[in-house]
Formats: sequence, structure tokens, C-alpha cells
Amino acid sequence: MNRISVALAFLLALPIVQSSSRPPGTPPLNSAVERRLDSLLALMTLEEKAGQLTQYTARWTAPGERVRLIPDQEALIRKGKVGSLLNAYGADVTRRIQEIAVKESRLKIPLVFGYDVIHGLRTVFPIPLGEASTWEPGLIEKAARVAATEASAMGIQWTFAPMVDIARDPRWGRIAEGSGEDPYLGAAMAAAHVRGFQGDDLSQPNTILSCPKHFAAYGGAEGGRDYNAVDISERTLRDVYLPPFEAAVKAGAATIMCSFNEIAGVPSTGNRQLLTDILRKEWGFDGFVVSDWGSIGELRAHGFASSGAEAALLALSAGTDMDMESNLYGEQVEVLVRSGKLAESVVDESVRRILRAKIRLGLFDDPYRYCSVVRERSLILHPDHRALARDVARRSMVLLKNEKNLLPLNKQAGTLAVIGPLAADSINPLGTWDALGRPADVVTVLEGIRKAVSPQTTVLYAKGCAIDSSATDGFGEAIAAARRADVVVMVLGEASSMSGEASCRSVLDLPGNQEALLKAIHAVGKPIVVILMNGRPLTIPWLDQQIPAILEAWMPGVEAGGAVADVIFGDYAPSGRLPVTFPRRVGQVPIYYNHKSTGRPADDTVKYTSRYLDVPSSPLYPFGYGLSYTRFAYGRLTLSAARIREGESLRVGIEVRNTGERPGEETVQLYVQDEFGSVTRPVKELKGFCKIALAPGEKKNIEFMLSTADLAFTTLDMKHRVEPGTFKVFAGGNSRDLAASSFEVVAR
Ligand code: BGC
Repeated sequence: MNRISVALAFLLALPIVQSSSRPPGTPPLNSAVERRLDSLLALMTLEEKAGQLTQYTARWTAPGERVRLIPDQEALIRKGKVGSLLNAYGADVTRRIQEIAVKESRLKIPLVFGYDVIHGLRTVFPIPLGEASTWEPGLIEKAARVAATEASAMGIQWTFAPMVDIARDPRWGRIAEGSGEDPYLGAAMAAAHVRGFQGDDLSQPNTILSCPKHFAAYGGAEGGRDYNAVDISERTLRDVYLPPFEAAVKAGAATIMCSFNEIAGVPSTGNRQLLTDILRKEWGFDGFVVSDWGSIGELRAHGFASSGAEAALLALSAGTDMDMESNLYGEQVEVLVRSGKLAESVVDESVRRILRAKIRLGLFDDPYRYCSVVRERSLILHPDHRALARDVARRSMVLLKNEKNLLPLNKQAGTLAVIGPLAADSINPLGTWDALGRPADVVTVLEGIRKAVSPQTTVLYAKGCAIDSSATDGFGEAIAAARRADVVVMVLGEASSMSGEASCRSVLDLPGNQEALLKAIHAVGKPIVVILMNGRPLTIPWLDQQIPAILEAWMPGVEAGGAVADVIFGDYAPSGRLPVTFPRRVGQVPIYYNHKSTGRPADDTVKYTSRYLDVPSSPLYPFGYGLSYTRFAYGRLTLSAARIREGESLRVGIEVRNTGERPGEETVQLYVQDEFGSVTRPVKELKGFCKIALAPGEKKNIEFMLSTADLAFTTLDMKHRVEPGTFKVFAGGNSRDLAASSFEVVAR
């Protein structure tokens, strides 16, 4: 045991002091840990307590420098005025900073280092919307495990991920960071990420705290504009936006980040109902809540708090334990307690939650366990990590169209022209929140294709145009390349900066002159495959009509090129399915599959129905959609009973057959409609899915178990329960093309 551990062991073995009473409803905790916390709290001054509630971003003495913090921050750590740092990473850097905390501060409490490790650290995986397109939670758990392995090797113990916000408005740039529009798929992906980041034991040096965010309903921003107000019913909050959070908490999420937005007039950062009543009392969450960046201070701009002091009071009393970068808890907590406005027991409870997380991480036993230069050197960008990134990337790609089986291409294609602003681009495939990803690590699509084709194949390249510009001077070269080619592959889409935080768009078309370039190349008359790289659904009706093959590749990460090549040359048959609806036009937004029926369901042949005059009511591509290189045929649905009692389960079976000539993977999806309720119910809701591989001619019987608990919703009296009545049940390969049957639930 080293000197510090001895000091900490001594500190934590001090006599037990009874802590202030804990709020009712909090779950039973490990009593030995709680006693350690009691002892520690008894030693802390109010200033040191406020310090634990404070998180600063690392600010470096020189741009790009990774070695020292600015002296002011070092002084704050020395005084015990910092509980956590974000944006500090590197085994040696974090060790040096940690040393200040555990050697030079009075109580030697270690810091916890947080960072936005959203879809990988240095080995960058596809953006989360792409990850969700795999419909493979087990695979995404492995990807999160890799991210945690790399992060923890660089001194990071806490990621601000996963983002589990349901997003039904593709104008909202942050749709790229989540799992799309559906609560069921979103919940499965949320839990998978938490399991992957946290593993089985948080004290292991390769596991990190997860932080599902942004609690809550941030994706419901009016007009799809970031940070905007949200006004939804409590029922919608509970039935649509909260399920992924609840799943994440059930999976053991150790922290939660609250959101910037208000819900029906109450900003989340100061929302007690959300942060205390629902999160802690209803769900039994025993971790801590961190604010979003500056969101405590923003309570003033919201018009919810009249001063910094009031903002701190409202946020802490609501249940926001840690202040990320508002710098208000540090400034105000002591004053608020001394003036009698804030009970010290509230402060103690938040400090306790944060210290508990540090104990869980094992930081009190060894504050440097995440600072291993050896692990850092051997694990970052490990070949196994890259191999997994390639597999996830190819599995995330969604084949939207493939007329006359243009894909897969032959590796002996003669001459292939690779055209477009994203074809040889190594920056944008990393997507938003690219963490420590480096363009130099990225395999571009052009490189991937060059590597895959036979030596006899000629690969021509022309950029054609920039991602977002009106210039046409590159068109000539691109047209010339297309003329010489047998097949053209065009790589089009968005810059990574066009999605993510504060990156909303009012138009969802291909930016700049890309569609004009595509039209010019199309006029040459060669077969065209379009690869799309984007962080949201785009409106691409012209492509859908004119281009024979379209592959949605999202932002695929470091292994972009290899993964695209695997798919377009048929080494891997595409199996991704859309986790979000593609509109035909931006005016249809929000458009999502699990909408309500209305009293006048859309019928495009009848005027007085719920529709637009100038666009069909259907989306361009529905939720759950995606093609393969083979075809799947579905048999009839079979139910184990026509009627079940509340509390019972129903077996739903369906036969799926590969009727094509190639092997392929299908994602079989189960949907339910509750036909009548005390409140109206969506036209259908996803209730199960599974991905299966089928050889040509092979068939499989897929069975889903549907329990009546799966049919529960927030009823008129605000209870979460199933209501007896008739239900439709559907199964198939996307949310539109489904076999249907029905059953009844009768009261117990
Ligand atoms: C974002 C969060 C992020 C935080 C820290 C905020 O602006 O909303 O998602 O975790 O910054 O970087």
C-alpha cells in the first residue's frame, strides 16, 4: 500500500458519524460504504462539500497542450474545490492532476475524470444512429466495451453517454447521437451501451461510469431547433421519452445528465418531479445527476431563476448533484446554507452520491488505477478494436434501393469511377463527437474500394464538388471520369459538423451542389451507386426515383472505407434497418411510424383526412426498413391463444424464408396495436425484434413472447398498466410491410 492509500485508509476508517437522514424511497445501499461516507462527510467543510459538487473543464496553458492545467485550476484542486474535471485525458496527464488532488488537498479525495466518449475514443465507431441501425444490442454492447477500454486506459473514468433521447425530428442535429424515434429500440440500445461501458464491476480498471442523457425529452425541441422548449403531456413523457432512461437505470447506469430544455415550463435542471420523484423515488436510481454544460446558470436565461444563487438553490434542491461549468455551486452553496435557504442535509446527500460513485470506481483504493501508460500504449486503436469497428460499420449500413441487383458490384468491374465530396474524405466519416479520433486513422471510401478491387480494375477518382458550396468547377472532371467508367460510385452527404449539438437544419436535402452534380453524372448514362454519409434522415426523392442503388452508410467511423467496400462488393450482405423514418419532404416532419390514428386517418384519395395536399402521406422509407442482397418471404402469423388474461403471455410465431439466391440477415420485427383505450394509442408500436441469418432456401420459425406487461401504457388515470380489450399484432421486415393477426386481453 502506498502512502496515499494509507492516508485514505486511515481517513475512511475514522469513527462512524451518523449522517443526516436520507430521503424516503431511496433504495438500500451497501452499509459499509455508507459508513465510510458518513465518516468522510463528517470531516468535510462546507467549502469542500461544494467542491465535490463542482466540475470544471480542463483548460490548458497552451492550445493543444496536454500536460498542465492553468495554474488557477491547479490551485482550486489543491483547495479541494473541484470534484471532477472534464476534457482532461491521457494516462500521464490525469495521473499528474490526480496527484494534486490526492497529495496536496486536505482530504485527499480523488477527482473523477469525465469525457464525451460517445461512439468510441480513438477507435471511432459509427455514430449512434448508425449503431442503432444494426438492431444488434449485443454488438453495440461490445462496441461500448471497446470505447470504455480505450477511455479507461487514458485516465477517463466517466463517459457522458449514451444519449438516449428519442428523436422524431430530423431537423434536430442531435438525432445523430441517439438511437432514433422508437422507445423500444431506444431502450434496448440504451441498456446495451450502459452494460458495455460499465461492465460487471465498476472498480475494474477497464470499466467506466455511464451517463445516459439528456434527462429528459430534449429530442422533443419545438421545430427541431436545439435547446428549444418542449411542451408535451406527462403521458407522452412517460410513454415515449422516458423508457430508454428507465431501461438505462435498470441496467445500472451510475450517473445521469439532465437536459438543457424545459418541459411544460419547467427546465429539467430544476425539475424536482423528474430528478427526484421519477428518477430516484420511482426508479430507485442511486447514482448522481450532473447538469449539462452551464445549464444551472441558464436557469436565469430561461426566466426560471432570478439570480445565480436562486439557480443553484433550485437545481440542487431538484436533484442536480453536480454543476458542470456553471461555476455556481462553488460560489453559492456555502452562502445558501449559511443564510438558511438551503439545508446542509441536501448538500450532504449530493456529496454522498458523488463520493459513492468514486468508491464504486475504486478510486479511494487506488486513485491511479486508470492511469496506466502501458495500457494506454497497448490498447488504443488496437487491431481487435478496429476489426470490431469495421464489423459494426458494415452492419449499420442500410440498403435503401437496389434496382436490378446492381449491387453487389463485381471486383473485376473494369473501370470504376468514385466521385463525390465524401469519397476521399477522412474527416467527416468520424461524425459528430469524434472524441480522440484522427483523420489519419480513417480508411476513406476511395481507399477501401481501391484495396478491395482486383488488380485489373481501374479506379478513377474525382471530387466533383465540395460538401456545401455552389461551385461547379469540379463537375467537368467528374463527368469525364464517369464517361470512362463502367460503373459510378458516388459518395455524397453531410459534413460531420452538420449534425450533433447546435447543428440543426431547416432543409434536409443534400447540401450545396451535390444533387446537381449527381444529376450531371446521371446524364452520362452509366449505372450509379450512391453511398450516403449523413447524420440524419435526408430528403432524397429524386435519388429514389432515378438512382438504381442507394446505400445509407451514416457516418461510419475509422473503418468507413473497408466497411463500405465489404458491402458494395458483397463480402457482407447489408443488414441494417432504419431506426428512424425518412420523410419525402421536410414539410412532413415530424413523421414517425408510431403516430396516432386521429379521427380522420390519412387517406390520400379523400380530401377531409389528416394529410397534406402536396405530398403523399407515406414516408419515403419507413421505420425498420432496409434491403438485403436476397429476399425474405413471411408466412402467416400464429398465436398460441386468441385470448389471454392479464398477467399471462402470448406466443407469436412467424415463418421467415430466404427466397433469394444469396445468404442474408433479416431483422424480424414485432408490432402491436392496442385498438381502443381510455386514451388513444399509437397505430402500432414495436414490441420485439430479432436478427437472423438465413442461407438461400432456408426457413426459420421465429417466436416472440408477448406478455400483457409489454402492453402497459399510461392510462387515463395516469397508472402504468394494460387495459383489457382487443389488440392487433403484426410481424415482418419493416414497420410497413407486415403480416397481421389479433387477440384479446381479458381482465384477470
Ligand atoms: C452537451 C452534452 C455534453 C457536454 C459536455 C454539452 O454541451 O449537451 O451532451 O456531454 O456538453 O461536453
